[in-house]
Amino acid sequence: MDIYYTIFDLQKAILVYRKQGASIGFVPTMGALHQGHLSLIKKAKQENDIVVCSIFVNPVQFNNKEDFEKYPHTENEDIQLLNQANCDLLFTPSEKEIYPDSTHNNFDFNFGDIDKVMEGKYRPGHFKGVAIVVKRLLEIVLPNKAYFGEKDFQQLAIVKVLAKQFFPTIDIVPCPIIREADGLAMSSRNMRLTIEERKVVSLIYKTLFEAKTKAQSNTVFDLKHWVEGEINAQPLMNLEYFEISDIETLKPIEKWVESQCVIACIAVFIGKVRLIDNIIIEKKNDANRGFKV
Ligand code: PAF
Repeated sequence: MDIYYTIFDLQKAILVYRKQGASIGFVPTMGALHQGHLSLIKKAKQENDIVVCSIFVNPVQFNNKEDFEKYPHTENEDIQLLNQANCDLLFTPSEKEIYPDSTHNNFDFNFGDIDKVMEGKYRPGHFKGVAIVVKRLLEIVLPNKAYFGEKDFQQLAIVKVLAKQFFPTIDIVPCPIIREADGLAMSSRNMRLTIEERKVVSLIYKTLFEAKTKAQSNTVFDLKHWVEGEINAQPLMNLEYFEISDIETLKPIEKWVESQCVIACIAVFIGKVRLIDNIIIEKKNDANRGFKV
């Protein structure tokens, strides 16, 4: 795997492949790689001739200073994992390279209401920061396809809109959540959990999984109340939100009749670590049969 630190060198290398007619798959990351990231690389390898991965811990998407400062950095291990996964090019730019001046780290987007709820509501400025860096990285790499995990479901939805607005030829490819054996969704932030916290954190997925079944026989209100009770009963955990939202608009619903297909999204603090997860709750085509309205 070749490693590039500047836009100039990366683009020169990509151009050589482009001239040979190669298709380019792109996996943007913030490093601290795990099997979830590697599943994106694997899919990108299957679908493209050349795979570019970027590692850049993007300061403008952190609304919480401590979260940014404590974000895990595991460069050597990351390079090893990417080599094993046969990634072709790695781009690890400095902050100055990505944001040489303030015109590069400020841009006003319009995503309608999709960035106003859930993560957008609880992490002000976060999605603007994500959109700024994703736009910048897509401009630099100009891939045929770019790969994003469904764990960050709202981010994926926003990136799809961003691509439609600015890069209509780039295919945004969603990749399923990869879970640990106990159900915990893989995340770089899991590395920050203490041994005690790690022991109890699978409660998040267990609760989501049970909520999916309970959705058949509970109102939205009762289900939300049940989830809140389950999570907050665990002394190490604090629920930030649990929303049941339309899968397309991400607008939270209050009654099952409001949407044909919904996604349940959760954000939980375990000590100082904030984790998110989600599960799709499918409904039958003939709308609300079996669901308690
Ligand atoms: O999901 C992430 O790791 C980041 O938000 C991304 C897409 C790499 C942008 O910094």
